[in-house]
Amino acid sequence: MFEAIQQTAAYIRQHITTTPAIGVILGSGLGGLIDSVDISAEIPYEDIPNFPVSTVEGHAGKLVFGTLGGKQVMMMAGRFHYYEGYTMQEITFPIRVMKALGVETLFLSNAAGGMNPNFKVGDIMLIDDHINLFPTHPLTGPNDERLGTRFPDMSEPYDHTLLAKAKDIAAEQNLHIHTGTYIGLQGPTFETPAEYKWLHVIGGDAVGMSTVPENIVAKHSGMRVFAASIITDLGVAGQVHKVSHEEVLAAANAAAPKLAGLVASLIHRM
Ligand code: HPA
Repeated sequence: MFEAIQQTAAYIRQHITTTPAIGVILGSGLGGLIDSVDISAEIPYEDIPNFPVSTVEGHAGKLVFGTLGGKQVMMMAGRFHYYEGYTMQEITFPIRVMKALGVETLFLSNAAGGMNPNFKVGDIMLIDDHINLFPTHPLTGPNDERLGTRFPDMSEPYDHTLLAKAKDIAAEQNLHIHTGTYIGLQGPTFETPAEYKWLHVIGGDAVGMSTVPENIVAKHSGMRVFAASIITDLGVAGQVHKVSHEEVLAAANAAAPKLAGLVASLIHRM
């Protein structure tokens, strides 16, 4: 894998003039952030050697390079999920490439179901910890010491300094936010009422189908990570209703400008 990462990074370097230290994966809720970027280069995933190829037509995806809040950034517009059939290595390969290109801080977002009874649809939850319930792990198999250590420390999966800054900015912007634990699992089914209840009992505030694999590989490579969820539906006892993908998308899009504004300010102040 090391050679593939180097090859991909070399290809990308030929197409960019910047050296971003900040990487952003535009998950649900952050897509609009791209409108605030002064774009210097765009590379479609299908042109990038070794990059996972999207199986869904019209969801090709691209890397976007440019300036945001005065900082050089590298963004992934289009993300890979485990439920789509990608391996953990494929999902997290772009994170390895980001690291090889010089990215030191990774920003992630997602749509999530809320188990915490204080949460409402449209709320933002800064992720300060996670529980990994995916059935496979991105670091399974032989470890390449050039990429990271065999047994990575996970005592601070989400950077405390960035979390503190984000809370300050939210207070200044009068933005109501929560902080909590995200549980990542495979999907693609949403949870049953009993599953939501159990996920809350074991310590989860929100649940979703992404973010944890990317966080693990980012931590393995020595990056700091900031992540936030948009609560798109509730898995609170007695309040579990039918959920559809359309509802999740609508709730995520409605709350997106708040989260995009917060992340843009955070990047600006780094
Ligand atoms: N469960 C899992 N993933 C999700 C949910 C949920 O309730 N909402 C948005 N993504």
